[in-house]
Amino acid sequence: MNKEFQFIETKVEDSIGFIALNRPKVLNAINRGMVSEIVEAMESYDRDEYIRVIVLSGKGRAFAAGADIDEMVDADPIGMELLNQFTDWDRLGAIKKPIIGAIHGFALGGGFELALCCDLLIAAEDAEFGFPEVNLGVMPGAGGTQRLTKLVGRSRALRWLMTGDRFSAKEALHYGVVCETIPTDLLMEETVRFAKNLATKPPLSLRLIKESVQKAVDSSTLEGMQFERKNFYLLFSSEDQKEGMTAFKEKRKPQFRGR
Ligand code: CAA
Repeated sequence: MNKEFQFIETKVEDSIGFIALNRPKVLNAINRGMVSEIVEAMESYDRDEYIRVIVLSGKGRAFAAGADIDEMVDADPIGMELLNQFTDWDRLGAIKKPIIGAIHGFALGGGFELALCCDLLIAAEDAEFGFPEVNLGVMPGAGGTQRLTKLVGRSRALRWLMTGDRFSAKEALHYGVVCETIPTDLLMEETVRFAKNLATKPPLSLRLIKESVQKAVDSSTLEGMQFERKNFYLLFSSEDQKEGMTAFKEKRKPQFRGR
């Protein structure tokens, strides 16, 4: 993607599409412009057949310290309803490719909500998560109460949401919020290694695994299993299924083409 953005930086390398939040002076506070740019970049990566995995990170000393408080301080409910800004956030939920969040420093409020829109979170050891909105007299508004509760259960979610306390990368790993923790100076190197490995996997499998896991989160077990089964059957119409299984039988490395 050859485009200059104002609030993010993008680059493509080895079939990985990178997006870095780029307002380091305000710890990448997320304004409306940044959300639209993230959505635009993600959707463009999602359409690009060459790209297999998306990596989201933050520049400077934080991933993101929340939604931009300067934009909200004088907000009123009707104005926010008319702005309808959360439709952009909803579009992030429709991205089909795997999104890896590489999180360092603060991931707070809207920053944590943005992280929770990723499929896999890799945290630097210095990462700190939390929903401090309660201390501002508000609450999360971009899916935080829903996504966190589904991840860690009601009791732990309420503990963090009601106190606004921050928690460490180690706790995030313990409670299943992130899937890996990495020494801070190795975060991007290890995330790229992880992303490159995912990029070798058959794209259609990744896509339908992502959809099915989301379905598990959003629906009853029975409904989710029926959905999973249909996707499982569907993969048997792909060339990559034939290639993957034939390569296994022939004891060679498969060449996946996303068909
Ligand atoms: N919005 C706007 N500006 C922010 C910001 C935010 N969420 N977070 C940090 N900044 C700005 C600070 O105002 C400061 O700017 P100046 O240099 O111009 O004063 C700059 O970033 C650096 O921040 P600090 O000097 O405060 O850095 P620190 O290391 O002392 O503290 C921090 C870091 C604890 C994260 C602190 O900045 C902080 O508490 N930030 C706010 C966190 C927060 O409440 N987030 C939730 C926002 S509401 C939300 O997200 C709603 C939603 O669900 C949609």
